[in-house]
Amino acid sequence: MLVTGLEILSKARREGYGVGAFNTNNMEITQAILQAAEAKRSPVIIALSEGAMRYGGKELTTMVHESARDARVPVAVHLDHGSSYESVLRALYAGFTSVMIDKSGEDFEVNVAESKRAAEAAHAVGASIEAELGRLAGIEEHVAVDEKDALLTNPREAEIFVQKTGVDFLAVAVGTSHGPYKGKGKPFIDHERIREIAALLGEDYPLVLHGASGVPQELVQRFRAAGGEIGDAHGIAPEDVQKAITEGVAKINTDTDLRLAFAVRVREVLKDDPKVFDPRKVLGPAREEMQRVVEARLELFGSSGKA
Ligand code: G3H
Ligand code: 13P
Ligand code: ZN
Repeated sequence: MLVTGLEILSKARREGYGVGAFNTNNMEITQAILQAAEAKRSPVIIALSEGAMRYGGKELTTMVHESARDARVPVAVHLDHGSSYESVLRALYAGFTSVMIDKSGEDFEVNVAESKRAAEAAHAVGASIEAELGRLAGIEEHVAVDEKDALLTNPREAEIFVQKTGVDFLAVAVGTSHGPYKGKGKPFIDHERIREIAALLGEDYPLVLHGASGVPQELVQRFRAAGGEIGDAHGIAPEDVQKAITEGVAKINTDTDLRLAFAVRVREVLKDDPKVFDPRKVLGPAREEMQRVVEARLELFGSSGKA
């Protein structure tokens, strides 16, 4: 069933588990996400970036909405990193139940004004809205305090930002970053900062962790073994994600792990069977691999059995 993001995330905060927001770009990814959520009896958020919508067009958004409506678990259809008010309006018009306005690259006052405007539009049609404050940059533990403060979300600013904008959930910069390279070596997560932000916003307020993929080393090795090239790829440690959930994080974004699972399995199938050319024999195994990744994430977040 199709529900709003806030409905899913409020329940998650009250009951102390996290909800996965997984990015989709095509039919196989959408099926992998929804089949995993149904198999695990878990609520889920399906995220479409502006790039996903350009790639998949109306066919993709229509299919995602239909599938979400038919699902036997609560599903929110969410715009990821909406870059403008117009982009948010387009998503709302297309029936998204959750949107993100991302003006985190702008000055605080511009971010406030733009996020407030987008929040008013989302709320006018009963959808939920996320905004972002701070810079998503992978950092190391020994980075100086003032350098961390310059990049990461300032707790006091977060409180003012939410009061002024009325956004329903807030993406915070606490050391995670997008993609398979999250800074040098093991990424450092500023747990104290998450706790400080949560204390000011209230314990029920849902925080969002972007760039939260785990980049499983097993997948990285298989990717290399199948001829792929990937540098020093590292993700967020499972224990950091679980700790962040106990501290106030409700929505955990994952895209890179799905991309990796997809690419690993496609490479393996084509390498192992030089005769294969039926798309279903290539994409079917990739879909199964992605479903396994989503199921493992849902277990990690504690959302399985909660739908
Ligand atoms: O945070 C960004 C997501 O991974 C989506 O990436 O804009 O390449 O679709 P994309
Ligand atoms: P990853 O690149 O770590 O999967 O993060 C995805 C994300 O934050 C999408 O908004
Ligand atoms: Zn993101």
